[in-house]
Amino acid sequence: MQTGQRDSFGSRFGVIAAAAGSAIGLGNIWRFPYVLGENGGGIFLLIYLLLVAMVGIPVMLSEFTIGRSTQRNPYGAFRRLAPGQPWYLVGMMGIVAAFMILAFYTVVAGWTLEYLYQALVHGFRGLSSQQLNDMFDHFRGGTFRPILWFLIFMFLTAWIVVAGIRNGIEKYTKVLMPFLFVLILVLDVRAVTLPGAAEGLKFLFKPDLSKISAETILEALGQGFFSLSIGMGTLITYGSYIGKQERLGNTALNVTIADTLIAVLAGIAIFPAVFAFGIQPDVGTGLVFKTLPLIFQEMPGGYFFAIIFFLLLSIAALTSTISVLEVIVAFFSEELHLTRRSATLLASSAVGVLGIFAAGSWGWFHKVEMLGQNFFGILDFTTANILLPLGGFFIVLFVGWFMGTDRVRAELSNDGTIRAAYLPVFLFLVRFVAPLAIALVFMNGLGWI
Ligand code: PFF
Repeated sequence: MQTGQRDSFGSRFGVIAAAAGSAIGLGNIWRFPYVLGENGGGIFLLIYLLLVAMVGIPVMLSEFTIGRSTQRNPYGAFRRLAPGQPWYLVGMMGIVAAFMILAFYTVVAGWTLEYLYQALVHGFRGLSSQQLNDMFDHFRGGTFRPILWFLIFMFLTAWIVVAGIRNGIEKYTKVLMPFLFVLILVLDVRAVTLPGAAEGLKFLFKPDLSKISAETILEALGQGFFSLSIGMGTLITYGSYIGKQERLGNTALNVTIADTLIAVLAGIAIFPAVFAFGIQPDVGTGLVFKTLPLIFQEMPGGYFFAIIFFLLLSIAALTSTISVLEVIVAFFSEELHLTRRSATLLASSAVGVLGIFAAGSWGWFHKVEMLGQNFFGILDFTTANILLPLGGFFIVLFVGWFMGTDRVRAELSNDGTIRAAYLPVFLFLVRFVAPLAIALVFMNGLGWI
């Protein structure tokens, strides 16, 4: 595809909606609460916030800078900025991470469709906490339904991506994201007014220093990367569609704030209910699917809210899956010179195969385990805690030390037409703070130091 014909976002709100749509997803509403629950509660939130500010924002802005300045997919972007050097491997790693993330993420997205269906047919009515637990475990351990929902979700994702940036991704995210926000607020109000809610809020907001460990910090870093969609070139790809007049600094800040806010609001919706109903906060991946149906039974109009909630959870997932698929599609179409249609078909079929195994992780494929993790867990851990931080490390190093200050300054100041007063702070963060923080947390978390 020629640069001149390249698709792009059509409006400022469209850029924010698409990038926030990528960032806000199952990572905020499904993953954040259970990872926090498993890692000591409030202390995790505190470390998470610190890492988002020190590492997350610099990586995100670096990705936008690389993407917009080259107008290329992650692999092509590095090829263009550092011809003849091995930096393109960072781009390749991102493409591989995209396959792996899509394969397990879309499985969970499929679960949200099953739960939407159950909400519609009164599937939770009258069930006790124990029965809801069993219902989830039974569904997830099955064969046919998890695979079917996964494939349906993959198809929906491909259907939007094939329509392109402006007429596909932007068009849908602009409508869906504001809707999601309102719904989370409604759920929060319900959750905090439950009897016993205070315990949950204490768990979320009161840091208990004794619960801190190297692993907790690595989990917080991994969660930050995953939640912000950074470290694998998703935002290089989206950045490549951002117009030259947009302020990248503002965009990165807005997206980070929106993403963090939604994660905290999701925590407020979940933990009061977890404690109010005596569920353990550290039950893992099933947390949201076991807890929320209980809240819905308690609230007036719960039938209605359950439907809207699972619909919106699916939507949050969809605005994220499209961004991950777009990484692979941009790569295939620009590097292999495929049409968008063939690129989308090829990418989604390949992910479709991998995802069938991930969907079977609690059922027919459960025997495959590594270090106590099933196949799904392996994909999740490897991407969030290893590939994304590693990718982020090289991305900030590249922008801080190799891309050239003039080029970075030109990109962030829109060729000198706007002031980017934060530039010195940004450069300091990408040169020293972020790489050092990632390296330390990473090696510490893996037990290397
Ligand atoms: N940020 C998404 C979420 O929090 O649900 C997940 C995600 C999307 C991760 C895109 C990585 C990515 F490149």
